[in-house]
Order: sequence, then structure tokens, then C-alpha cells
Amino acid sequence: MEVVICKTYDELSKQAANVVAEVLNEKPNAVLGMATGSSPLGLYQELVRMHRDEALDFSQVTTFNLDEYVGLPVTHEQSYHYFMHENFFKHVNIPIGNIHIPSGSTNNYRAFCEWYENRIEECGGIDVQILGIGADGHIAFNEPTSSMASRTRLKTLARQTIEDNARFFDKVEDVPIYAITMGVGTILDARRLLLVANGEKKADAVAKMIEGPVTTMITASALQMHSRASVFIDEPAAANLQMRDYYDWIQAKKPDAPKQ
Ligand code: GLP
Repeated sequence: MEVVICKTYDELSKQAANVVAEVLNEKPNAVLGMATGSSPLGLYQELVRMHRDEALDFSQVTTFNLDEYVGLPVTHEQSYHYFMHENFFKHVNIPIGNIHIPSGSTNNYRAFCEWYENRIEECGGIDVQILGIGADGHIAFNEPTSSMASRTRLKTLARQTIEDNARFFDKVEDVPIYAITMGVGTILDARRLLLVANGEKKADAVAKMIEGPVTTMITASALQMHSRASVFIDEPAAANLQMRDYYDWIQAKKPDAPKQ
């Protein structure tokens, strides 16, 4: 796993956005895996800036979002549909038909999840999956004890996740209890993983993800089993890392490293 520790949130967002831009420059019709939450907001803002100022083109891009709450209409301000359109899609030129977000209102979840998995495959698989991390170490809505082999499915949210996300709702009772989420196995199938995390609240989960045992108790630890995972974090989120010096050393020596 590549660990990049940045001085500020702004810097980590820019570095992560550069990775996405590099993928798009190499493969203009790349399939991007999208994440919601506050962590990737800076990354999206930077991609929007690159689209506006540097003509970064999304016209051939296809996207798949990680997850969605069950029961919120797409017009609800806290739905992930709404979040993605407001914070990213409406500012770039991805054809609307190329955008995929799990449905939080289908009347057949099992069939929908199967369709979603097949659709990812039909589109050639995900080239780069953007990820955040929950305070309990989850990725997407793969709560602790989710199988490492799990695929897109309906999930019951953990109490901590409901409490963590209550800040976005009027009251905790308004937070949906169920969500539809890509599985850990679905995420691991992406060719490249790009996780962003910031702030001291994430320090414990980040350390467990990078340096702890691979365990379903911290589903983000699955990144240790991926051959091309990069993690961009800020100083507060890096606070509990034991191998900190090594990560900094690798980055310092990167410009002189033999080309791979
Ligand atoms: C939710 C999302 C995750 C996200 C997490 C952290 O649970 N399903 O994809 O990583 O929140 O959110 P934030 O970035 O706001 O801390």
C-alpha cells in the first residue's frame, strides 16, 4: 500500500485528484468508482477546477458510486444521488447515461444489486475506485464483520455510522438504517484504489487499516490485499502510524527511484 502523508487537506485532495487526472489522460474512457462523504469533497473540487481551467475531459467517462441510503428520494439533500450531482456531476461533462448510483428506492434490491454488479463488468470493470473511511474503519457501507468476499447488497448500518452521519440530518432518527453498498469484494476488483482521509477522528481507523491485521472488523484493512492501493492522508489522520518515518522516506526517495 502506498501511504502519502500531506501537510494539509488541500494538498492531499490535489495529489489524489492528480492520480485521477493521470488515469483519465491515459484512458479517456476510464471507469471511475465514486465515493461520498466529506473526505473526497476537496478531490472533487480539484477535478472540477481541472475540468474548468485545464480542459480535463470527462465526456467518455463512466462512473459507479459505492453506495446509497435506502428510503431517501433522490431529491433528498442527504441522498448520495443529490450529493454527487451537487458536488461533482453537475460541474463536469460526464454523459448522464454513464452515471450509475445504487438505487435506494427499488422494489427488488436483490435484482438491482445483481444488475449493478453485471453493469460494472459490462463496462469493463472499475479503473480507479475513490474511497473514504468511516471512523469504525468501514469502506463504502461495509460495516465491521462484512465479508471480504461481499458483493453489492443491502446492509444494515451500524449504530456508530448512524450516529456519525446524524450531523447531516435534523435528528438521529432521520438517518436511514439501511443502505445499498458495493461489497468489499466488488471494491477489491477495481484496478486501482485511492483512499482519502483527514482529521484526528480518522487516526485510529487509518492506523488499523494500514498497519493492523487484515480483519473484517476493519473492512478498510482489505486494502492491504490489493496490489495497487494508495492512501492520501493529512497530518492529524496520520498521528497513530508506527511506520511514519518509512512512508516519508519512500516519498522523499520517489523522484530518484528506478522507473517501474
Ligand atoms: C459514509 C460513507 C463512506 C464514507 C464515510 C466517511 O459512511 N458510506 O463511503 O467513507 O461515510 O465519511 P466522511 O468522509 O464524511 O467522514
